Amino acid sequence: MKVTVVGAGAVGASCAEYIAIKNFASEVVLVDIKEGFAEGKAMDLMQTASLNGFDTQITGSTNDYSKTADSDVAVITSGIPRKPGMTREELISTNAGIVKTVAENIIKHSPNVIIIVVSNPMDTMTYLAHQALDLPKNRIIGMGGALDSARFKYRLAEALKAPISDVDGMVIGGHSDTGMIPLTRLATRNSVPVSEFLSADRLAEVKEATKVGGATLTKLLGTSAWYAPGAAVSSMVHAIANDSHKMFPCSCLLDGEYGLNDLSIGVPAIIGANGIERIVEIDLNDEEKEALANSATAVQKTNSLLS
Ligand code: LAC
Repeated sequence: MKVTVVGAGAVGASCAEYIAIKNFASEVVLVDIKEGFAEGKAMDLMQTASLNGFDTQITGSTNDYSKTADSDVAVITSGIPRKPGMTREELISTNAGIVKTVAENIIKHSPNVIIIVVSNPMDTMTYLAHQALDLPKNRIIGMGGALDSARFKYRLAEALKAPISDVDGMVIGGHSDTGMIPLTRLATRNSVPVSEFLSADRLAEVKEATKVGGATLTKLLGTSAWYAPGAAVSSMVHAIANDSHKMFPCSCLLDGEYGLNDLSIGVPAIIGANGIERIVEIDLNDEEKEALANSATAVQKTNSLLS
């Protein structure tokens, strides 16, 4: 398994680090436009190999995509992150051009690659990659739901005063402060619905804290978060490498699923060696269906800014 990670900033470097620590990839190539930056991050990470016990070879490249040739998976983290008070959608004018160029450079050297898009606004950048490359739809996946679900589980565990390993839950919809849909109805503590333990008001607070999870961190850190985004991507890459058929909510190009078309948005999907092996259509109640329809309208509005 050879993995390219474009963008050696905090998210890209965390992603490379977690992939290496899990020790399943033979090679990770970090690419960045800033002279020497990816090489420096790669060297620093390689100097952790003997300490952290991995054999993955991490190399860096300043914008030379020939080094990425024949990658199995490529992760796009390039572009600017949001600053406190900004929405992800406000990044579109800067990031769209960057993501399109990066996607085109990746595919030139790795025609069979599976692409995971992280750059924001993530659902729209995933859609843009589909438009630019016209690959089979299973081969371009947006990271978002995996991250948002991890944040949901963190907030659920906090409210339940339970270990996170006891908690399960999923977030679908767009990767935005208003578009995320934490599925509280389906969340469980060790298979018991969380509504058995938490009041409707407390669950509403958990839902809200989850939706603004990224914004809360951006306010604290002065920039976008990186550990959980990096870990979420590495889990998806691991599922592809192991052909795990693990279910993640992630941004998928829809063609009638959930009554939606011609957009990429967070829905549950089975992730394996082919990327998106299949989209899982679960029964949503009326409130959830309406929330997903509204979230899709918002994503489509952002998509319309692309042309
Ligand atoms: C976040 C960014 C990656 O939610 O969108 O932290």
